[in-house]
Amino acid sequence: MAAGGARAGGDAPAGGGAPAGGDGDPEQRAAELRRLVEYHAYRYYVLDDPEIGDDVYDALFDELRALEAEHPELVTPDSPTQRVGGEPVSDLVKVRHLEPMLSLANARSAEELRAWVQRMRNHLAREGIEDPRFQFVAEPKIDGLAISLLYRDGIFQRGATRGNGEVGEDVTHNLRTIGALPLRLETERPPALLEVRGEVYMSLPDFAALNERRAQAGLSTFMNPRNSAAGTIRQLDPKLAAERPLSLWCYGIGVTDGLTLESHWEALQWLREHRFPVHPDVRRLATEDDVVAQCQDWERRRGSLEFEIDGVVVKVSQFELQRRLGVVGRDPRWAIAWKFPPTTAVTRLNGIGWNPGKFGDLHPYAMLEPVHVGGVTIKLATLHNEEDLARKDIRPGEDVIVLRAGDVIPQVLSPAPHVAEHADRPPPPRPPERCPVCDTPTVKPEGSVFTRCPNRDCAGRRWQLLTSFAGVMDIDGLGEKLVTLFMDLGWVTTPADLYRLSAELIAQQPGFGEVSARKLVEAIDRSRQQPFGLVLFALGIEEVGQVTGRNLAQRFRTIDALLAAEPEAIEQTPGVGPKMARSIHDQLADPRMRALIEDLRGIGLRFQEEGPPLGEGPLAGRTLVLTGTLPHLTREQATERIIAAGGRVTGSVSRRTDYVVAGESAGSKLARAEQLGVSVLDEDGLLAVLEGEPPHGPRVA
Ligand code: IVH
Repeated sequence: MAAGGARAGGDAPAGGGAPAGGDGDPEQRAAELRRLVEYHAYRYYVLDDPEIGDDVYDALFDELRALEAEHPELVTPDSPTQRVGGEPVSDLVKVRHLEPMLSLANARSAEELRAWVQRMRNHLAREGIEDPRFQFVAEPKIDGLAISLLYRDGIFQRGATRGNGEVGEDVTHNLRTIGALPLRLETERPPALLEVRGEVYMSLPDFAALNERRAQAGLSTFMNPRNSAAGTIRQLDPKLAAERPLSLWCYGIGVTDGLTLESHWEALQWLREHRFPVHPDVRRLATEDDVVAQCQDWERRRGSLEFEIDGVVVKVSQFELQRRLGVVGRDPRWAIAWKFPPTTAVTRLNGIGWNPGKFGDLHPYAMLEPVHVGGVTIKLATLHNEEDLARKDIRPGEDVIVLRAGDVIPQVLSPAPHVAEHADRPPPPRPPERCPVCDTPTVKPEGSVFTRCPNRDCAGRRWQLLTSFAGVMDIDGLGEKLVTLFMDLGWVTTPADLYRLSAELIAQQPGFGEVSARKLVEAIDRSRQQPFGLVLFALGIEEVGQVTGRNLAQRFRTIDALLAAEPEAIEQTPGVGPKMARSIHDQLADPRMRALIEDLRGIGLRFQEEGPPLGEGPLAGRTLVLTGTLPHLTREQATERIIAAGGRVTGSVSRRTDYVVAGESAGSKLARAEQLGVSVLDEDGLLAVLEGEPPHGPRVA
């Protein structure tokens, strides 16, 4: 059935039989047809229980289309004819969500789930709520893309991707093509504003069919349903999206005006009554045991579903309790994702490939006999480095176990059990004697465990530097494919060349138009505004990541000061030890690096710190060390927030450390803190000091 299609009868709105352009009022008839078509689309796409055949449905749809063609003034934005056939957009517009779209903390076992419930109890007890009587709702955690759907006065108005949670992209044109998405609310008195949240995904059968069509047409195939859904939802032309069937499950309500609900469970019922697709097996549960049993049940059923799930989302239902529990970082305290263990399969290792990284070290990857794991085909898998490869003791020609964990890149785990016992195993793989990209003889520096391509002009290394530069500088649209294209054309060899690209020339490349070329050049231009610390990171200095880049920028303030600094001065930067300081110094002294810096400086990138000087914010002048896993904040989030509060994060505990923030499985750093008498904070304590409050929570001093 075509997008926007479905079938008639039963308790369908009356009027199916009236002829097109008949005696009746065309406006009334059009309204009737819209209702009918949408009703039958709902029966078909949401309930999976059609009442009429495709032919009857098509007749209704055609009648509506003909009527609208005759009376264009009758076309309404919520007409099912508008699902497809919308005009392509020239660009995806960024939109700010009315309320941030949050993420979820994980639980990997029944113990972790129970610990989550206990943390909620403790938190509520501090709020004076002793016996919260939770009601839980367990839902499949669909492996797709989160989206937000806005309805104003009952009409679907705008749909956006999650993006970074604050700002997403307007993909209304593509969302309209999803048959299960209501274009209007079937109710007399719709709320003035309603935000529905859900997950867009591609079902496994649709994914397999799409890849087969693409393979037959000689096109590249998608890696997994999630990538395929992500690529589809970001298409500019809704006709392309309509050809790649997307599906939708709704799992919540965001901002509303004119709707009063008491709980998440009620919200799901409300959505279901208003024809939104809510998964039929969503359950309301009263006890932890029931929740654990339900999660395990989903885990068992995982392989027999029509879509991929990577876990179960458990939410506290009562909105009042949700409000009291609040949010930590980006994760609500009142919800958690029970993550399934990864899926594995056995396949033949055909060979090992090697790719030079940014600094020349050769990274191995596994070339596999294609194998299906959890609904997708895997041909390649990462092997982190030479050591990892040796430790795994896998040999080309033998069977290996591969693992795919949810949304991450597949990995090779080990030889398959039956091969490890063989007496005559093939020889272990060796790193190549020549760089597979530039053919320069490889080297293994003394004391290093990694083989390297020593050629700084190696195209492989340049490619890595350019793609990483584009990522660090957040240049929208400049991905791996374009870097390859621009390098192949000879337009780009160093990051500075990016700023000299011509929109006119790019526009002539296949896949580009004037608008897209201009957008790309504008995105590159915008990156000139990135702060000094990020520029230092983007330059590709070994050992200088985001944090060290920022610390160096804050300490030295200008590039000239940094270039003039001796290793001893660089060592004064938080997190930089003597060896690292020497290495940074030497890399900065390299004539090529100097040339790149001068080139970029001439182009107008920032080589001067403009942020607030050191010594401001509640953690100004404080040094913190993070260890273990915090219940909610990731390492990166905690680091971001400490730095935003003026503090520094370093890797090792010393007498100069002000606080050690310890999470679960904290190890030697915690022991050392206790030994030195450094204050220890848990996550709540960290949140307190970030706000400038005195630390509370467990504190060992
Ligand atoms: S609720 C309240 N429910 O998981 C927190 N998310 O890690 C907001 N997801 O970005 C999300 N199924 O893409 C929620 N039933 C479900 C979900 C679900 C999948 C995804 C969603 C979100 C991510 C959070």
